[in-house]
Parts: sequence; C-alpha cells; structure tokens
Amino acid sequence: MIYSIVVLPGDGIGPEITEQALRILTAFNDVSLDIKQELIGGSAFESVGDPLPPKTLNAVGNANAILFGAVGDSKYDYLPRNLRPEQAILGIRKKLRLFANFRPAILYPQLIKASTLKPRIISNLDILIIRELIGDIYFGEPRGFRTALVGDFKGEKEAYDTMQYSIPEVTRIAKIAFDTAKNRKKKLCSVDKANVLETSQLWRDTINVVGQDYPDIELSHMYIDNAAMQLIKNPLQFDVIVTGNLFGDILSDEASMLTGSIGMLPSASLNSKGQGLYEPIHGSAPDIAGQQIANPLAMILSVAMLFRFSLKMPRYANKIENAVFNVLDSGLRTPDIYEEGMTKVNTDEMGDAVLNELKNISR
Ligand code: IPM
Ligand code: MG
Repeated sequence: MIYSIVVLPGDGIGPEITEQALRILTAFNDVSLDIKQELIGGSAFESVGDPLPPKTLNAVGNANAILFGAVGDSKYDYLPRNLRPEQAILGIRKKLRLFANFRPAILYPQLIKASTLKPRIISNLDILIIRELIGDIYFGEPRGFRTALVGDFKGEKEAYDTMQYSIPEVTRIAKIAFDTAKNRKKKLCSVDKANVLETSQLWRDTINVVGQDYPDIELSHMYIDNAAMQLIKNPLQFDVIVTGNLFGDILSDEASMLTGSIGMLPSASLNSKGQGLYEPIHGSAPDIAGQQIANPLAMILSVAMLFRFSLKMPRYANKIENAVFNVLDSGLRTPDIYEEGMTKVNTDEMGDAVLNELKNISR
C-alpha cells in the first residue's frame, strides 16, 4: 500500500522543523509514501492571497495523513479574520472533522532539570490530554461584533462568541477518551466549568452517561481553574485528561512546561475515517525563525505518532521515539532545552543526530 501524505510547512520555524521531520518520515526503505508539499498559512497568503488555498484543501481531503509545521505571525493581525494564518489550521481541522486531538505530555528523564518545576513533582510524568478539536467556542455560532442592546453598556460596541456542545459531540470524544484510558492506567479526568457554564453541565452529564459503559475506568471531574492549579501542584495525579477545545488549548500549553519545553510536544488529530493530522503543539515562533535554533523534536515525535496512528506501524513509531531518547541521552540539546554541561546543537544537527540514531537502531 502506498500512503498519501500531505506536508504543510507553513510559517516561521515551520519550514525548518519540517525539513528535519521529513528526513525521519522518509527514513524507512520499506514504507511507500506519496508525499506532496502544499502551501498553508501566512506564506500561502503571500503567494496566492489565501491562507488555506483550495488546492491545499483538496490535497488534504485526499490524504491518508497530514504533517503540519506551524502557522501564524503577528504581522498578519491587521487582516480580516478569514485571511489570517490561524484560520488555515482551524479550517483543515473542521473540514476533515478532526475532532479527536491527542496531546501527550511526557517528561524525558534527561530533561528533568530543563523544567521549571521541581524534579520530585514531575519525575516519570506521562499525561495524555485528549482535546475535543472542532467544537466549543472556537467554532460556535453566532459570533461577531454588534451594538449592545441591553445592560450597563447599552449602545456601545461589543463582541460575542458562542460556547456550544451537543450531546453526540461530547459522546464521541468521551468514547475515545474512555477507550484510551482502558489501555493506560484506567483513570480519566474530565475537565469543565460546570459550576458556571451550561455547556459544561451538558459536557459533564454526557461524560457520566458514557462512563456507565466503562465501569472499570475510574472517572473524576475537575473544574478548569482547579485543573490548571493541580497540574502544577501535583501533575502525577493525572493520567488521561479529556476536555473541550478552549480548555484543552490552554491546559496543553501548561502541561508542556512540565516537560521542560513546548518544543518537545507532538500531537495527533484524528477523524472517524482514520485520517490524521500531525503537528507539534507549539506555534510558528516568528521571533526565532530562520536562525536554525528551533527544536525539531516535537515535529519529529509527531512523525512517530503518524506512523503509530495513520500508518499502523507502531514498530517504526517506537524506533523514532527511542532514537529521540538516545539522542537526548547523548547530551545533545537545542537552546530551548540546553543546560550547562550539555552539547548545544542547532536544528539541522538535531535532525542529523536523530536520523543517525535511527539507522543505528534499525541495523
Ligand atoms: C494549538 C494552537 C491553535 C489553537 C491556534 C494556532 C489556532 O494554539 O494548536 O494549540 O488554538 O488550537
Ligand atoms: Mg494552543
């Protein structure tokens, strides 16, 4: 079988880290891939006036998997929202119905000192955040600007968004979360704001209903503010966390810091047809773009997830993850995870090292 993969480098550090990720993606001789590269984000806007050109949208629709770098730059903030780079990734997620977003936060023991938290708080950290990705206040309608019709600021300009979840939407992500928890420590924590929001009340009720089919899973609920605190206070209490789009966006950035650097965290976004989009959870970091100092490991680890989820080749996923582990063991560090006594390397050199290690392991 030949797998069709669309690669979207995007903006900022996206192209640099994509280059390294591609070397890993194509490292196995016995895997047949048809790889197409397409425009996305601010760079697509510059070339063709659209952050998500129809050609790109068409290509991703037909792909088995998508490998995505990063999009965004504050220089596009002046544009109307539909032309901003972020709309490209949101558009693909929505178009392909990539509702299930897996964001593992794993601490590599070699990086324990790179984290701002005390080693005893984070040692052996291995959390999986499952974020619903195509609903919630990100996509709810109506949204927009208007003149306030009521209240203390009647007559003034105001903006509004709609937070929204339906029972089937929560049910399908809940099932994925419970099934995933089954294969881990059988513990699931659902995060919401049910003390204030109707959306969260429905979320919580629905999670409880689905939970009745999973009596062997220990289910807990936590409010988002408390979860943000507990994640710093005692992260080892968590195994799998399931939450909505907005809360998941915030909690996954927070969780990344437990692991030392946001430059280490991959993600997978899946639909019910088996298509997947793989991207580092970090952004385009325009401030460090083009300097060869970005950490390519989050994107390389995203390639591992691509092998595991889309190509169903867990053996290769494990190999890539082991190669990253060994490279960290050998003391190589990009600046974001550098500490004294280690060897500082640039983006390319980190890619070289992982590729070499992969060859060693495969021999
Ligand atoms: C993420 C990012 C995106 C999001 C942005 C770029 C739209 O922060 O993938 O976490 O908010 O989902
Ligand atoms: Mg985010």
